[in-house]
Amino acid sequence: MKPSNRSERLPPYLFAELERKVREKKAAGVDVISLGIGDPDTPTPAPVVDALARAVADAGTHQYPSNRGRPELREAFASFYERRFGVALDPETEIIPALGAKECVFNLNLAFLDAGDVALAADPGYPVYTGGPLLADGEPVLMPLVPERGFAPDLDAIAAEDAARARLLYLNYPNNPTGAVLPEGLFERVVEFAREHDVLVVHDASYTETTFDGYVAPSFLETPGAKEVGVEIFSLSKGWNMTGWRTAAIVGNADAVAAYWRLKTNIDSGMFEAVQLAAAAGLDAGPPEEMKAIYQRRRDLVCDALRAIGVNVTPPKGTIYIWAPVPEGHTSASYCELVLEESGVVLSPGGAYGPNGEGFFRISLTVPDERLGEAVERLRGSLAG
Ligand SMILES: Cc1ncc(COP(=O)(O)O)c(C=O)c1O
Repeated sequence: MKPSNRSERLPPYLFAELERKVREKKAAGVDVISLGIGDPDTPTPAPVVDALARAVADAGTHQYPSNRGRPELREAFASFYERRFGVALDPETEIIPALGAKECVFNLNLAFLDAGDVALAADPGYPVYTGGPLLADGEPVLMPLVPERGFAPDLDAIAAEDAARARLLYLNYPNNPTGAVLPEGLFERVVEFAREHDVLVVHDASYTETTFDGYVAPSFLETPGAKEVGVEIFSLSKGWNMTGWRTAAIVGNADAVAAYWRLKTNIDSGMFEAVQLAAAAGLDAGPPEEMKAIYQRRRDLVCDALRAIGVNVTPPKGTIYIWAPVPEGHTSASYCELVLEESGVVLSPGGAYGPNGEGFFRISLTVPDERLGEAVERLRGSLAG
C-alpha cells in the first residue's frame, strides 16, 4: 500500500504530534498540563446548548442538510456582521456555512489552486495555510512575520515571479501564533496588492472576538474594496467555546463563495441542521463577553510569571496565546522538549509554525485558572533553573 506523493509531502500535523507526546507522558504516570492546543476549556454558552436541545428533538433536522445552509443560519451571520462590524452581507450569495475554519481554509486551496499556483502564507502561521496548498498540488510561499514589523507581512518583499503565480493570500488577525493584532494600514495595502496581482485574499477571523484591554478587532470586509478581492472565514470555535461543534462560515466575495460552495457540494454533505440552528442562536446572543476577562486574567498571570524569570514577553491584545522567545542556547523544539521532561508542561514549539517561528514558544491560555497557576509555578522552577 503506497500513500500518494501528495500526502507524503506533508509534515506531521503539529497537534497530532503533541497529542502523541502527552499520551506517552500520561501513560508513564506524569501529571501533564497541556498548554499546547488552543481549545477553550469553558462550556459552550447556554443559548447555544438550549437551542441545540430543541432543534435536535425536531425530526425535521434529521435528514441530509442543505450544503448552502439553513436560511436561519445565513441570516444570523448577516445580522451579526451588520451589528458587530457594520458590514452588509447578502445571505443568499455571500455566506456559506463551513465545518470549521480548518475545512474552509483547506477547501479554498482545492477551489482556487491549480498545480504550481502559489498561495501566500504567513510564517509563522496556522499550519493549514501551508499544508493545504501542498495537498492541492500548489506551492505555499512564505511571508515572514517578524516582531520588528509588528508581525505584518512585507508585501513589497514578495518576489515578482511569486506574486505573478499567486492565487491566494492568507491573513489572520488577531494572529495565531504571535498574538499580534492588525498592523495599521495592512488591510488597505492588501486590497491594492490583490487588485494588482489578481489574488483572492482570505482573512481568517478566528480570533476577532477574543480581545483584551478594550481592543476591538475589525473585519477585513470593513476595508474599502475588500469584498471585490476577498473573503473572510468567521469561526465560532474560539469566541463561543464551540471547537467541538465545527461551526464557521465563509463570507464576502460572491464569486469566491460560489466557487467554494460548488467544490464543497462534491466533498461533504453540510452541517447537521440542529447544529446550524444552535449556531444561529449563538450568533444572535453574541459571544460570551465574560471570556475576555477570563483570558485577560490568565494572560496577565502568565506574562507576569514569564517576566519575573527574565523572559521578554509582550502581553497580546488578542487571541488565546502568549508568544515568547526561548532562552538562549535552545531551539524552540529542544526547549519545549526540556520543559516537558522537567515539568510535565506542554508548550508548542514556534518552529512548528514556520521558519520564522524558530526561537519562540507558544502558550495557550485554555486551561482552568488553577491548572494554569500550577503550570506557571512549574515553569518558574524549570525555566529559572
Ligand atoms: C488561525 C486559525 N484558523 C483556524 C483554526 C481552526 O478553527 P476551526 O475550529 O474553526 O476549524 C484555528 C485553530 O486553532 C486557528 O488558530
